[in-house]
Amino acid sequence: MVEHRWPDVDGLLYGGDYNPEQWPEQVWPQDVQLMQEAGVTLVTVGVFSWALLEPTEGRYEFGWLDRVLGLLHEGGIAVDLATATASPPPWFSLAFPDSLPVTEDGVRLAWGSRQAYCPSSTAYRRAATRLAGAMAERYGRHPAVRMWHVGNEYGCHVAHCFCDTSAAAFRTFLQDRYGDLVTLNAAWGTAFWSQHYSAWEQVIPPRASPTHRNPTQQLDWWRFGSEALLELYRAERDVLRTLTPHLPVTTNFMAPGFKAADYVAWAREVDLVANDHYLLGADPAPMVDLALGADLMRSVGAGAPWLLMESSTSAVNWQPHNLAKPAGQLRRNALAQVARGADGVLFFQWRASRAGAEKFHSGLVPHAGTDTKIWREVVDLGQELAGLADVVGTRVQTQVAILWDYEAWWAVELDSHPSADVTYAAAVRRTYEALWRAGITVDFVHPEGDLSAYRMLLAPSLYLLSDAGARALEAHVRDGGSLVVSYFSGVVDSNDHVRLGGYPGALREVLGVQVEEFFPLLPAETLALSNGATGSRWSELLMLRGAKALASIESGPLAGVPALTRHSYGRGNATYLATDLDPAALGRLLLEELEQAGLEPVAPAPPGVEVVRRGSFLFVINHTSDDAVVAGTPVPAGGATVLRGA
Ligand code: GAL
Repeated sequence: MVEHRWPDVDGLLYGGDYNPEQWPEQVWPQDVQLMQEAGVTLVTVGVFSWALLEPTEGRYEFGWLDRVLGLLHEGGIAVDLATATASPPPWFSLAFPDSLPVTEDGVRLAWGSRQAYCPSSTAYRRAATRLAGAMAERYGRHPAVRMWHVGNEYGCHVAHCFCDTSAAAFRTFLQDRYGDLVTLNAAWGTAFWSQHYSAWEQVIPPRASPTHRNPTQQLDWWRFGSEALLELYRAERDVLRTLTPHLPVTTNFMAPGFKAADYVAWAREVDLVANDHYLLGADPAPMVDLALGADLMRSVGAGAPWLLMESSTSAVNWQPHNLAKPAGQLRRNALAQVARGADGVLFFQWRASRAGAEKFHSGLVPHAGTDTKIWREVVDLGQELAGLADVVGTRVQTQVAILWDYEAWWAVELDSHPSADVTYAAAVRRTYEALWRAGITVDFVHPEGDLSAYRMLLAPSLYLLSDAGARALEAHVRDGGSLVVSYFSGVVDSNDHVRLGGYPGALREVLGVQVEEFFPLLPAETLALSNGATGSRWSELLMLRGAKALASIESGPLAGVPALTRHSYGRGNATYLATDLDPAALGRLLLEELEQAGLEPVAPAPPGVEVVRRGSFLFVINHTSDDAVVAGTPVPAGGATVLRGA
C-alpha cells in the first residue's frame, strides 16, 4: 500500500450494499429514513448497475442514480460509489462475444448470471474504463461520494480464462518474466515429457490435457491470473485517480478463502484494504475463519485499519445449507472484526431482494420488515458502533506471525504430489486455530516481508520458499527468534524445482534435520507418537542433523524415527513437525513454544472466549453457552464486551 487513505466519514463506518434499482422509487425515501434509524453512515451504490446506467453502448442514463445520491446526501448518508463495472450487460456480451470467458475444457460461458468476461479482454477493459471515467466525471464531486469501489470481488466467478486472447496475454507475461524461451524451458523443466518449446506460439495456458500439466506452467498461470485481474483494477483506478484525486479507491477482497488473487501484492495497489467475509455453514468453528480473515486483512495492509466491505446479517444463499445466525451472532461477528482492525462493518445488502438469485440472502432490512430480530439487531449494532468511534485508527499489535505466501499456496496444491491431502489453507487454519484457542493474536507475513516485529514465526506446509525467504527465516532464528515449521515446507524453489540434498531443502540447516523420503498416510491412518500424541496425514524418514527429538513414531515402518524435533540455532530455536499433530497435541506444543519465547495471551480467558487487544481497548467475545469472567468483567454466554483503557 502506497499510502493509507480512508473515506471522509466520522466514526466506524456502518452500512452495506444498497441496490435501489431493485425497488420502486417510492421505496427510496423510506430506505433513507430506515438507514438513519439504524445509524447507517455509508452505503455502497451501483455495484451491479451497468446495464441500467448504460442500457446501450455509449448512452448513459444517470437520472435515477442522480436522484438516489441526492436522497442519500440529504439524509446524511455517505456513499462508496461503485464504478459499476462488475458485470457487463447483455448488449456488451452480444456485441463482443470474444469477451466471454472460456473454461480449461474450451467451453465458452454465456451471459445470464454475472461477471461473464475474460480478464484479458481488451473490449471489456475499454468499456469498463470508459464507464469508470463517465462515473468519475458525473459523480466525482458529488458531496455524498466519499470513496470508489472498483469492480467487485475480482475473480470471484471467473479467475482464469483459457481463450486465445488470454493465451496471448499469458505469453506476454512469460516474455516479461523469462525474456527468452531458453530461460522458460529451463524454468519449466521442459526436458521432461518432450515439452521443449521452440517457438512462442507453442506456449499456451494449461488447458485440459491428457494428464498432469507442467507444474511450473501451472504455477505461472496462477501468477499470471492474479496479475491479469490486478491490471484490470489498476486500469480503472488510474482513471479515477486522474479525475478524482481527492477520493480513496479500493476494491473488495475475499479473504481468507480466495486463492486466485495474491492479496499481498494487491494490497499495495489500494488506498485501503477492504474485505468480504461470509461464514461457512460447514465450518465447525466459523468464528476462527472470521478471525483469520480479519488478521490477514490487517496484515496485508501493513497493520492499517481496514474495511469489512461485505458480510451477512444472517443467512447467505450460495451454500448447500444456508444457516441463519441465532440472536447475538451478528453482534459477535461484527465486534470480532472491529477487534482485529476493521474501522467499518458493512453488509451485503441493505434490503433483502425480492427477485433474482440472491432473494434468500439476508439483508439489513429482511423480507419480513422491521418488526424482526434482524432489524432490531441491526439498529442495536448501529448504536453500539457509534459509541465506539474512538476505536477508529487504533492498531492491533502482536509478536507472533504465520508466514503467508500465495505462491506457496498455488504450488503446494498442484497435482502429482506425495499426498493430495496436504493443502495450504487447511494447514494454515489448523495452526491458526491452535493459536486462536490459546488466545494469541496473529499477524500474517510474507517470508520476504518485514519479519522484525516478530518473536515467533510459524510456517505451516510452506512448500515453496524462495532463496531470499529461506535466508530471512534463518536470520530470524539466528538472531534469537523462534520458528515452528510443519512438514512439506521449503521443498521447492520459486520455479517449483526440488531443492536437492534432502528435504526440507531450504530449511534443513536451520531445522537441523534431513529427510530422505516422505511417507504420507492414508486418510484413515494414524500414528502413535512417543509423547502420547497422534499424527495423521504425513510422516517422513527423518535424520537428526543437530536437532533433538521431542517425540518419535511408535510403530509401523518408521518406528523410532523422530516426528517432532527442536534445534537450537544461533540465539534462537527452530521446531519441526514431521506429521500432522492432533489438535490437542498441537495446542500443547504451541503453548510450550509460546512460553519458551516469553509470549502469552492478552488476558486469561476460558476456552471459546475470544480476547483481542486493539489500542487500549480489550474486546471480549464469548462464543460459548456459558457465562464467563474476563479481566474481572462478566461476559454473558453468547455476549461480548469492549473494555476501555484495559
Ligand atoms: C459477494 C458479492 C455480493 C453478493 C454476496 C452474497 O460475493 O460481492 O454481490 O453476491 O457475495 O453473499
